[in-house]
Amino acid sequence: TGMFTFDPGFMSTASCSSSITYIDGDKGELLYRGYPIEQLAVKCDFLEVCHLIMKGDLPDEKEKADFDHLVTHHTMVNEQLQTFLKGFRRDAHPMAVLTGLVGALSAFYHDSLDITKKEHRDISSIRLIAKMPTLIAMAYKYSVGQPFIYPQNNLSYTANFLRMMFGNPCEEYVVNEVVERALDRIFILHAEHEQNASTSTVRLCGSSGTNPFAAIAAGVACLWGPAHGGANEAALQMLEELLAQGGVDKLPEFVAKVKDKSSGVKLMGFGHRVYKNYDPRAKLMQETCREVLEALGLQDDPLFKLAMALEKVALEDEYFVSRKLYPNVDFYSGIVQRAIGIPTSLFTAIFALARTVGWVAQWNEMISDPDYKIGRPRQLYTGETARDVADLNAR
Ligand code: CMC
Repeated sequence: TGMFTFDPGFMSTASCSSSITYIDGDKGELLYRGYPIEQLAVKCDFLEVCHLIMKGDLPDEKEKADFDHLVTHHTMVNEQLQTFLKGFRRDAHPMAVLTGLVGALSAFYHDSLDITKKEHRDISSIRLIAKMPTLIAMAYKYSVGQPFIYPQNNLSYTANFLRMMFGNPCEEYVVNEVVERALDRIFILHAEHEQNASTSTVRLCGSSGTNPFAAIAAGVACLWGPAHGGANEAALQMLEELLAQGGVDKLPEFVAKVKDKSSGVKLMGFGHRVYKNYDPRAKLMQETCREVLEALGLQDDPLFKLAMALEKVALEDEYFVSRKLYPNVDFYSGIVQRAIGIPTSLFTAIFALARTVGWVAQWNEMISDPDYKIGRPRQLYTGETARDVADLNAR
């Protein structure tokens, strides 16, 4: 009954209007609030980009100082959260832990439950961006049995995260600026990407009027999947397996397996629903990868070489050419993260950290629209027609 269109996977349905991000998938163009990603990646730091995404424009010097101060002064989490964290097994996947911790934040900030007030929405948004690095570093420290390192307000957002991850109470942590810059760029490149699966999840979840911590926890859960944010972890595992099996020599065999649909093997870090050209983020990520590896004396990194060889083979192959499959952001990000010491299982959590600003901005955009509606798709029913329930002994 009623008129609606059938569009599984939202192949042709716009679920909302938004003024945050523009993608031209055929050209391989990505703009945050009108600014090209290529310029933002080299001219801005992550918190400037967060300001841009949330507030609509880049900060001037005073606005930047204020915004940095605001975020860095909300990085602590309630001590009780440690008790909650310690309920997890130490070998839990960090995304399992993160889904729980982010959702748990709503238990600590009761003002988040009343989203009708803008000041409540604003402070919850800042808390989410500020606390995500702390939660992820806590989850990591717990998994390796080391003490938690508290945030330090005089460090940049990214340096602070690195120190919480890799510092320990026995010695002073010295931030490597190349590493800091590379991670900051990873954050910028992952910050926002219009109506992808996790962002659409945040919008749909948030459309019921639930609190932002619950809505973002739903986004984290969605991001975890290998078709989405989990692809960075899966791409690195794929490269490592390929390397162990013989590296470049095994490429033709591997590519043949990917092309054989019955194998179920996909080229992870390749393909995109929107980009039918080179993902501009993948290009920037490849450059960052080269810079970081050189700065760390790892220019001969066999995984990077293998990734580039694999990309070349794929881009010359009819299967990938005809389907317009190009490297996406996840193809090279794992190699950068690995080089800076981030364990593979944490890659998707890093993506979540960076995407939090996008989720929050999209959620705010939706909630502040006076005409927003609960998201409630329809379906094509394919089940039984109406029938009568027989008595138990007669079934
Ligand atoms: N390897 C091999 N074949 C592929 C791949 C791949 N990575 N991606 C797509 N194809 C094939 C697919 O089998 C289909 O072939 P056919 O036309 O013969 O049926 C065709 O290309 C179109 O693909 P699709 O699955 O219909 O496209 P989609 O828009 O539904 O899926 C995708 C997009 C990203 C889920 C998919 O490309 C994929 O699974 N890629 C690997 C996982 C990955 O890297 N994900 C990260 C996405 S970017 C970061 C993010 O935003 O999360």
